[in-house]
Amino acid sequence: MGPENGPDATRKKIFVKTYGCQMNVYDSARMVDVMAPSGYTEVDQPEDADIVILNTCHIREKAAEKVYSELGRLRDLKKEKSVRGESLVIGVAGCVAQAEGEEIRRRAPTVDLVLGPQTYHRLPEYVGRLSNGGPGIVETDFPADDKFETLPAPERRKTLARGATAFLTIQEGCDKFCTFCVVPYTRGAEFSRPVTRILDEARALADAGVREITLLGQNVNAYHGDDGKGTAASLGHLIRRLAGIDGLERLRYTTSHPRDMDDELIAAHAEVPELMPYLHLPVQSGSDRILAAMNRRHDAESYIRLVERIRAANPGIAMSSDFIVGFPGETEQDFEATLALIREVGYAQAYSFKYSPRPGTPASAEEDQLPEEIKSERLQRLQALLGEQQIAFNRACAGSTMSVLFDRRGRSESQLVGRSPYLQSVHIDDAPESLFGQIVDVAVEEGYRNSLRGRLLETAFVPA
Ligand code: 5AD
Ligand code: SF4
Repeated sequence: MGPENGPDATRKKIFVKTYGCQMNVYDSARMVDVMAPSGYTEVDQPEDADIVILNTCHIREKAAEKVYSELGRLRDLKKEKSVRGESLVIGVAGCVAQAEGEEIRRRAPTVDLVLGPQTYHRLPEYVGRLSNGGPGIVETDFPADDKFETLPAPERRKTLARGATAFLTIQEGCDKFCTFCVVPYTRGAEFSRPVTRILDEARALADAGVREITLLGQNVNAYHGDDGKGTAASLGHLIRRLAGIDGLERLRYTTSHPRDMDDELIAAHAEVPELMPYLHLPVQSGSDRILAAMNRRHDAESYIRLVERIRAANPGIAMSSDFIVGFPGETEQDFEATLALIREVGYAQAYSFKYSPRPGTPASAEEDQLPEEIKSERLQRLQALLGEQQIAFNRACAGSTMSVLFDRRGRSESQLVGRSPYLQSVHIDDAPESLFGQIVDVAVEEGYRNSLRGRLLETAFVPA
């Protein structure tokens, strides 16, 4: 173990708070990685930190507002610290940083550093400048140097992998320009990492005990990374390569666009046992009129046919989606088309949101914005239906045997929680510690709205 890993009170400390999507979870971990060679270790509360970074999300209004109220609390902390003769560097990273830039320092002058998602590999340089008394920094360029290439080598990740599950970003940005979405503006154009880099990083994670990797990208199934032979590898191809890595037993990917589900990827769902039978495939709406206004480039019927093809490849697959209610001009009839699509597809799980006008996006300039009450009422009806489907799916799991990857502790000492193939949380009581990080068979006894309860099968117990 190198000196970096030892406890040392004199070491500098960084706290990163993550908002929003899993890409941000991955980016936050990489920000901690990138600061490690400069002597920083991660702490889990801002009070203990020399640097606090808020890694922000701009996808909906509330997400950005939460950041500003957190900055108010951090301003007070910075004052308290300065009374004690201590300093605190406050940074805002991620998509709010990218979208609002200078505006953040105008609204919250306590912020020292504003850093877009494509530039966090430069964090050590910026922190160095600030520590030497330099002026505040706002960096929202899309620099030519690839941040993935300048981040620490995968070996470092080995020491930093925590637990049995990990995220791995393989693709960033989006070229789809759905009319409601800020991602193409905050994360920029589509970019895919080369296959060899991803394989190296995945091997390092597997060596460190990671059993399940979720491949991430804003539009992950648009992946077309360099395969080293001058051609582009598809996500289906990449998944087959990853499945060959020793110790890596489960693969997932998120988030996908229906238009990018190609035959190779659908075949992987039939043929690669490591690929978990769960697919998050956002549809947003079931109304063709609204889908067209959203520039989704598919209609309800083609989505339903696509789900049928995926289910033909793997009949056991559980579907998940994102929905937006109250898009500009959405009528009761449009909304009912969404409910009809949900009934037809049948979802194991889903996320749903009220439409939130994002500055600079085409839909925000539409005149027929819907009142809040209609959005709330539709969201409630939508969530009631999705909730019913989720409970029905979880209840139907009772009586079955599932392989569960145990990755966290439950509420009581002796309770362990794991993940089913369908991404449900599975709780078991009287669990031996040795199950941590292992995949074992569990008899599911009961299904609830958000979780399952089970017991270990006799044969499943593997002593440490
Ligand atoms: N308003 C509401 N929901 C949105 N999403 C993206 N942009 C908006 C918006 N402006 C939702 C979509 C997307 C998910 C990540 O967030 O459903 O799939
Ligand atoms: Fe946003 Fe997803 Fe549409 Fe891209 S495909 S613009 S990330 S909603």
